[in-house]
Amino acid sequence: MCGIIGYLGPRPAAAVVINGLRRLEYRGYDSAGLAILREGRILVQRAIGKLSNLEAKLQAEPDLLTASHTVGIGHTRWATHGGVTEHNAHPHLNDAGSVAVIHNGIVENFVELKAALEGEGVRFRSETDTEVIPHLVDLFMKDGMSFERAAFAAIGRLRGSNAVVMMCAEAPDTLIAARLGNAGGIVIGLGEGEHFVASDVPGILEYTRRVIFLDDGEVAVVRLDGLDVRRLDGTPVEKRAHIIPWDPVSAEKGEYRHFMQKEIFEQARAITDTLRGRVNFQTGAVHLEQLALDEANRPARIHTVACGSSFHAGLVGRFYIERIARVPVEVDYGSEYRYRDPLIAPDTVVLGITQSGETADTLAAMSAGRERGAPAWAIVNAVGAQAERLASGVIHMRAGPEIGVCSTKTFLTSIVDQYLLACALAQSAHTAEDEQSYALARALAHLPGLVSRMLDDDPIYQELANRFHNREHFLFLGRGVNYPIALEGALKLKEISYIHAEGYPAGEMKHGPIALIDEKMPVVCVAVRDNVYEKMISQIEQVKARGGTVIAVATEGDDFIRGKADYVIEVPPAEALLTPVLTAIPMQRLAYEMAVRLGCDVDQPRNLAKSVTVE
Ligand code: AGP
Repeated sequence: MCGIIGYLGPRPAAAVVINGLRRLEYRGYDSAGLAILREGRILVQRAIGKLSNLEAKLQAEPDLLTASHTVGIGHTRWATHGGVTEHNAHPHLNDAGSVAVIHNGIVENFVELKAALEGEGVRFRSETDTEVIPHLVDLFMKDGMSFERAAFAAIGRLRGSNAVVMMCAEAPDTLIAARLGNAGGIVIGLGEGEHFVASDVPGILEYTRRVIFLDDGEVAVVRLDGLDVRRLDGTPVEKRAHIIPWDPVSAEKGEYRHFMQKEIFEQARAITDTLRGRVNFQTGAVHLEQLALDEANRPARIHTVACGSSFHAGLVGRFYIERIARVPVEVDYGSEYRYRDPLIAPDTVVLGITQSGETADTLAAMSAGRERGAPAWAIVNAVGAQAERLASGVIHMRAGPEIGVCSTKTFLTSIVDQYLLACALAQSAHTAEDEQSYALARALAHLPGLVSRMLDDDPIYQELANRFHNREHFLFLGRGVNYPIALEGALKLKEISYIHAEGYPAGEMKHGPIALIDEKMPVVCVAVRDNVYEKMISQIEQVKARGGTVIAVATEGDDFIRGKADYVIEVPPAEALLTPVLTAIPMQRLAYEMAVRLGCDVDQPRNLAKSVTVE
């Protein structure tokens, strides 16, 4: 949730930290702060609100951003303990101001630790759990420990899932970074004579693509002349460096007004990338490079676990895996799965879908499955993220960095990846019925082109946004494989425009939501020509009969629906199972245009964060 940055090297540390924070602001944005070591003293600046408020404060100290200060840390906050105040913004310091700490997660035993520290005479300045950490380090240092030993000792006292980075005035060439549990990643960027620490790759991508990821229980001691990673008990750990395939430009906004807009328009490219090298378009054979499928490890059933949009993608994927591979699928919210004490029969695989690879609830659900004996697979965008490391099989979304909080291209690619998975599973079974999977896989060749057409200029979105952006409620209806798209449409609208919206399976409308329909209620109906088309038409009739306004998402050239609906957004004809990839795009474009009209912060909607690392 919070964004973390650390730098050690010859560049002006404050500039690197601010730059990194700018790229991580999507992770949390209620306050920000940084600490820089200057002439043997730690200098701290904090500001509530957007990062620009902190930058404005730093203008008063122009030399700070240019002078080379070797070591610095910075943080964007998404509040858990304590309100949004300058005192609660990170970094937090000990009394003497010689140890500075930034943190993501929740120190579960902070009440006891705080009471013990207060008993030792420590005065707390914030209401955060984080503040116990610098005071603990300080206490251990007063007992004669070096900064490094004191840091290990303090980190060892923390309970819960936490990512921590700290610096000390007495150790000007050292940064310490630790990861405990799944509260959030720590990635260490390896440069030439310099090192970077971040909660997420985009924060350091501009400087290096060679990184290592810390695992649960690991602490990195980062020095100017090298780096060593140990477990909390001091055991050294050999880490493998990963090369991140993304280029820094792909994390820039370019000519677009918002990241979300850019990411919507990148979707044809993202789908091309996720298909690349995985489908033989002549034969239809599908090969997933990091997922070994043969008779021995072909699952008999799949439990999909995911949150938010990734959950909706999982609901679409259930259709694919059941229809194409005939493997039964259950789809659960990551936050619910472990609380129903799931029954895991032999040969079950738990499939986590998560663009960030960090969502705490999804990780916990994957772990719950593993504890009950099921291997975990992951569909993930962030290369090397925790979900990938929990999994024995991985499908990378290859969507490139997604900075807008609203999932767009990762939603589409995770759907396509489940389609690939379904075909690969079917093909690994070698049965006559699975022949259809080869034809279905060949249909993917047309998908990037169809998606491109959905991205053409279309005045309908402007028209609809102009007409409806002041409405208070929206209803989204879909059926069959497009029912999850109705859920996704409502989520997109809610999260970026703050308009209340409900997504519903169309057939259920008559069991309740129909009471809401009147002339003030726009109803978006996904009604492409598929096996539930006629049923959708009858839902449209029912909405119209009650004075509702119908915005239909329908197949190109469907004149019949034009006679029924008030507005029509067209999607090109496609293989029926693939239509969600196309019908999702009007949901994104509509929500985007509405949010822009309403002056909302599209990329950083209030209260939300891109990686939800708390449970
Ligand atoms: C979608 O627009 C949201 N930002 C959110 O629902 C998101 O899909 C959810 O938090 C899960 O994230 P993940 O894919 O990184 O696990």
